[in-house]
Amino acid sequence: MDMISVFFLVWILNSVDAFNDFPSLVSNNASMAIIIEKSFFDNKAEYRSVVSNIYNFISNITSDIEVHVFHDTKIDSFQDYTVLLSVTTCDQTWNLYNAVRKDEIIHLAITEQDCPRLPEGVSIPLILPGKELSQIFFDIRMADALLWNNVNILHDDTFDRDTINRVTKAISIALPNKKFNLVSRSLFVFKHADSERNKRYYIKEMLESFHVDQLGKCFLVIVTIDTVADVMEAAKMLNMVQPDSQWLYVITDIVKNNSTNITSLIDLLSEGSNVAFIYNATDNNTYCNNNLICHIQELTMALNNALKISLMTEIELYNHVSNEEFEIVRLNKRERRREILKFIRTKLAQDNFATGGICGKCLFWRFASAITWGNFFIRDKSTAHLIDSGSWIPTLGMNLTDVIFPHVVHGFRGINLPIATYHNPPWQIISMTNSGEKEYGGLLFDVVKYLGNKLNFTYSVLSPVSNRTIKFTQNETQADMTYSFLTAKPGQLSRALLFTAPFAKETWACLASSIIIMGPSLYLIHKYGPTSTKTSGLNSSWQCIWYVYGALLQQGGMYLPYSDSARLLIGIWWLIVMVVVATYSGSLVAFLTFPNMDSSILTIDALLANKNRLTWGFPNGSYLEEYLKNAEEEKYHIMLKRAKIYNATQEAEVIEKVKAGKYALIDWRSTLRFLMRTDMLTTGRCSFSLSTDEFMDEPIAMIINQDNPYIKIINAELHRMHESGLMNKWVTEQIPMKDKCSDILANQAVNERKVNVADMQGIFFVLFMGVAGSIFLLCCEFYWHKRQVAKRRKLIQPFLS
Ligand SMILES: *[C@@H]1O[C@H](CO)[C@@H](O)[C@H](O)[C@H]1NC(C)=O
Ligand SMILES: *[C@@H]1O[C@H](CO)[C@@H](O)[C@H](O)[C@H]1NC(C)=O
Ligand SMILES: *[C@@H]1O[C@H](CO)[C@@H](O)[C@H](O)[C@H]1NC(C)=O
Ligand SMILES: *[C@@H]1O[C@H](CO)[C@@H](O)[C@H](O)[C@H]1NC(C)=O
Ligand SMILES: *[C@@H]1O[C@H](CO)[C@@H](O)[C@H](O)[C@H]1NC(C)=O
Ligand SMILES: *[C@@H]1O[C@H](CO)[C@@H](O)[C@H](O)[C@H]1NC(C)=O
Ligand SMILES: *[C@@H]1O[C@H](CO)[C@@H](O)[C@H](O)[C@H]1NC(C)=O
Ligand SMILES: *[C@@H]1O[C@H](CO)[C@@H](O)[C@H](O)[C@H]1NC(C)=O
Ligand SMILES: *[C@@H]1O[C@H](CO)[C@@H](O)[C@H](O)[C@H]1NC(C)=O
Ligand SMILES: *[C@@H]1O[C@H](CO)[C@@H](O)[C@H](O)[C@H]1NC(C)=O
Ligand SMILES: *[C@@H]1O[C@H](CO)[C@@H](O)[C@H](O)[C@H]1NC(C)=O
Ligand SMILES: *[C@@H]1O[C@H](CO)[C@@H](O)[C@H](O)[C@H]1NC(C)=O
Repeated sequence: MDMISVFFLVWILNSVDAFNDFPSLVSNNASMAIIIEKSFFDNKAEYRSVVSNIYNFISNITSDIEVHVFHDTKIDSFQDYTVLLSVTTCDQTWNLYNAVRKDEIIHLAITEQDCPRLPEGVSIPLILPGKELSQIFFDIRMADALLWNNVNILHDDTFDRDTINRVTKAISIALPNKKFNLVSRSLFVFKHADSERNKRYYIKEMLESFHVDQLGKCFLVIVTIDTVADVMEAAKMLNMVQPDSQWLYVITDIVKNNSTNITSLIDLLSEGSNVAFIYNATDNNTYCNNNLICHIQELTMALNNALKISLMTEIELYNHVSNEEFEIVRLNKRERRREILKFIRTKLAQDNFATGGICGKCLFWRFASAITWGNFFIRDKSTAHLIDSGSWIPTLGMNLTDVIFPHVVHGFRGINLPIATYHNPPWQIISMTNSGEKEYGGLLFDVVKYLGNKLNFTYSVLSPVSNRTIKFTQNETQADMTYSFLTAKPGQLSRALLFTAPFAKETWACLASSIIIMGPSLYLIHKYGPTSTKTSGLNSSWQCIWYVYGALLQQGGMYLPYSDSARLLIGIWWLIVMVVVATYSGSLVAFLTFPNMDSSILTIDALLANKNRLTWGFPNGSYLEEYLKNAEEEKYHIMLKRAKIYNATQEAEVIEKVKAGKYALIDWRSTLRFLMRTDMLTTGRCSFSLSTDEFMDEPIAMIINQDNPYIKIINAELHRMHESGLMNKWVTEQIPMKDKCSDILANQAVNERKVNVADMQGIFFVLFMGVAGSIFLLCCEFYWHKRQVAKRRKLIQPFLS
């Protein structure tokens, strides 16, 4: 019954073949081309026996595969075949692979050892136990599992030259169809010693003389299980195991029963290291059949099995859809190849782990990767663990379930790191959302978010640290980390004495003294001139002073002296008067129009000069304290001596003190700017001025525990952030670079200003003083006059009585 339906199907399907370029399995038996290369065998007899064996074997297990055996490798086209089975040397295998690739043929290859595996298809190198190491590296490289461009191979001298040579070759030759990117390769041998102490000594000696800078940081260590711990220990001690280095240990001998257990090596792993192990997990007791026929049988059985499954699914599909639909939805050649290869691989893998003698089962290697990053942060101690990252068997090569170096590829692997912070705008800003949750922002959180993206970690913020008792230990961002100080914005000066403002005190003094000197000089020249005459107003020095004073105020004397000498003097005086007066009135206008500000304290020297008027200080625990202590300049010592350090809780109080002009607050310039901005936003006024002096650069840092291994990585990322301009972007976003207060001041100055009475108050005050003075003098004169009269009477009296 079944037979009939299948024939019926076949008949129908033959007629609709045209739809798909390659016939369905339902309509045509699979066809297999077998190429057996003579030179692959030592002698002709062996070759012949293999050929006939293959033929018999295949026809024995299945009649559904049409087999063609070719004795020559030069075949033009395999287009009509479903499967190609080749038993050839490595070069020939790859030639065939390249020739049939476009034909989408299922390529099954059996080849010699140390042959790079075909990326598509199944290729089985015939490997003798003990010689598999080089093949493992070929496979690793074909799978792109190790992208090293330099490698340092370390091994002890118990390994024979041949093994090491072949491994070296596997690592360093160019592979077919692959880009070659190995730049340098170096080989280091350390002496094997029987005593533990000597062994360690040799290892240490070798590693100590190692030039990491020149040779790179990728290490391939080929060792036996009893040496691996020693190498790990020495490398750790010499600080060579860092997040930017990679150590791949190949442990060649079987991991013995219970005596050695790879898990015990985790104690030698340090935080941030990249360590992976490839170890021989072969069961020593399994019988090892590794001959060619065995592999061919295994392969053809797997193939037959795969074809059967494939045919079954096609029949299933055919029964459910119409002919036309079937032609459209059935797998094309490429899809079918992929499917059949998948089935073959699954079968081979199952066979390998099934009980019972199957070829190549004798070899089994495992890959283990150390998970070390971030353990320190999560648990209190560094407790690394190993994960299985894959396995290797001769028939299928590698089966990687994870990358060999998980941290190199995936960074922190998405772990959650704890971060402690405190409110320190604009670096770290802690704010509340409407729902009452804490929100973290600020420049450092921008950086951390970016780092988290790059290094694949998330973070949760621990209960915020409320103070600054944290010491900064490393340099990283160098945005704007200088210290400045903040003082109250200078108020407008009282305008009472505005009229004196155009001239400095010295000018006024000069003016006064020149009047006082000019008076007597004029009098003397006038008096002792040869044609001296008595002129009203110039009779005495006193009068001359008044004369000169009057001239200064452009009132002029009533009379000119007669002599030319005195006239010249007065003429010159008038000239001086003109210049002085013009200057005075000009600047007076300017002073009336522009507000006259108090001089602000913008430099440290100014601050120190004002030490009697105000005090200064900085937040407790600030790095500044240390800096000032160690500063060379005397002024910094004075500054520290008089500084009043405050605690974080007193901040609001301190700001009020600053506003009142009694205190200068010293902190990071950017912090002060931020403070000014927030104050401006709340009060709408500008109450502070920021010093122009920036003293001392403080390195700002994110604090990570001491000897944190990731400093280099993080610094490299930060460097990249700087170079890409990201850092600048964040800095400008978070810190207003322009000082808004200075803008306001500038605007204020430009605004027109009306002169009012208050501006003139001073001169009225002088007028009042003048009036009061003259009344006083009047009284004095009366008194004087009375005394004179009384005196005169007294003198005359004796004559009268
Ligand atoms: C496949 O080959 C066998 C044996 O030669 C034959 O009986 C069968 O009809 C063939 N099947 C197809 C679909 O050609
Ligand atoms: C073919 O199969 C039979 C029975 O399954 C077996 O006896 C015989 O040895 C096989 N021949 C070959 C060449 O494998
Ligand atoms: C792996 O272990 C097996 C069994 O002990 C051994 O035969 C084989 O030589 C080992 N492989 C290497 C590369 O040493
Ligand atoms: C391995 O362990 C088995 C029992 O678990 C023991 O009989 C055998 O001697 C051990 N072999 C070695 C090499 O330790
Ligand atoms: C280790 O020994 C125990 C018994 O002592 C045994 O059950 C276990 O299978 C052994 N492990 C290995 C890897 O041989
Ligand atoms: C290796 O040792 C660890 C403890 O050190 C143990 O948990 C683990 O089961 C051991 N593995 C084997 C294969 O014996
Ligand atoms: C493997 O087994 C052989 C004998 O079966 C034995 O001589 C050899 O020492 C074993 N090797 C290991 C590493 O256990
Ligand atoms: C690879 O290994 C994983 C886990 O051991 C297994 O589930 C999977 O089937 C393996 N794949 C192949 C192709 O062997
Ligand atoms: C982050 O780590 C997880 C866990 O290993 C991984 O699945 C993911 O791909 C990683 N992300 C990146 C971007 O590497
Ligand atoms: C500062 O923080 C530390 C740790 O959080 C704490 O022990 C200390 O008491 C705090 N000091 C002040 C003054 O808040
Ligand atoms: C700190 O910065 C200086 C100069 O930028 C650099 O030479 C030094 O290596 C840096 N230190 C660290 C720990 O990154
Ligand atoms: C001052 O000069 C006038 C002439 O203008 C004269 O009358 C008068 O007596 C003089 N007074 C004195 C104190 O010399």
